[in-house]
Amino acid sequence: MKTRVVRVAEGISPAVALLASGEIVGLPTETVYGLGADALNPEACAKIFEAKHRPLSDPLIVHVPDMEWASRLAEFSPEAWKLAEAFWPGPLTLVLPRRDIVPDIVTAGQSTVAIRWSAHPVFQEIVERFGKPIAAPSANRFGRISPTCALDVVAELDGEVALVVDGGSCAHGLESAIVCVEGANFRVLRNGPVTSEELAGFGNVVSVGKDIVAPGGFKSHYAPATPVEVVSEVPTPRPGCGLLAWSSDGSGFAHVEHLSARRDLREAAANLFGAMRRLDALGLELIIAEAVPAHGLGAAIMERLHKAAAR
Ligand code: TXA
Ligand code: MG
Repeated sequence: MKTRVVRVAEGISPAVALLASGEIVGLPTETVYGLGADALNPEACAKIFEAKHRPLSDPLIVHVPDMEWASRLAEFSPEAWKLAEAFWPGPLTLVLPRRDIVPDIVTAGQSTVAIRWSAHPVFQEIVERFGKPIAAPSANRFGRISPTCALDVVAELDGEVALVVDGGSCAHGLESAIVCVEGANFRVLRNGPVTSEELAGFGNVVSVGKDIVAPGGFKSHYAPATPVEVVSEVPTPRPGCGLLAWSSDGSGFAHVEHLSARRDLREAAANLFGAMRRLDALGLELIIAEAVPAHGLGAAIMERLHKAAAR
């Protein structure tokens, strides 16, 4: 199979047709590119796991076209409704008690299901025309860096997926925040563009970051082939190494990628995975990543850096 990248104008109809025939497609979202399939078709979902080489124990996020579909898939408590109202469509995934309609392969047999309503106009048009929920993990090989543009999807999954709809670069560049709603407690399973500070306005944020409990929250993830080391002090120059820079100028390194010259966490998040990919392609002995401030979106960036560094 040859992977075709198509522009939005030519891509939407074939993408919907492929979904309807039980195939997988690469789709843009506002966070990262997803590898989508009909969420209610277990065999179609199985193709996602095959293409990504993802273990079946790692459940998928289901992307809905509207709130009605969301409530057909999961039980929404009043607190969950409040979060959905505040942040959907958008970069927030809610983990909620599932309903029977959700296939076991999607939830990895768990009693909960992860649901998101994407704000990306192209994704929205596709899911609305498809008329059913779309299961979609990030469109990378399991354990690798998430794709933030259509060509990244090809770099990850060439030959594994027939079609990638090119919706340009992802606005956020980081995966959605994942929140398990337990009464008035919000357990953050993955930090993301909706920050813990924002969530705290709606309930009790109980556990954040480090000891990630999402089943796919393996310690090593988002991993380049090159080893990564995260440093919190000004890095000393190392000629054989690359630098993922936050505040240093990077002199004395073989190559430097600046996350954000104006030190803006949003810009840094959007650049993070692309910069890691470019550094990784150089075959350096080590990538040194400078720590960013850990507040707001910085928490999500630091989580990815620590995972990229974990072996
Ligand atoms: O931004 C995103 O969320 C992207 C775009 C494509 O929507 N999707 C994405 O999916 O990042 P994925 O599969 O790469 O990451 C989803 C994470 C996995 O770590 C998975 O284990 C976790 O969500 N997850 C899925 N269902 C879950 C559940 N019922 N309970 C806990 N964690 C769950
Ligand atoms: Mg992923």
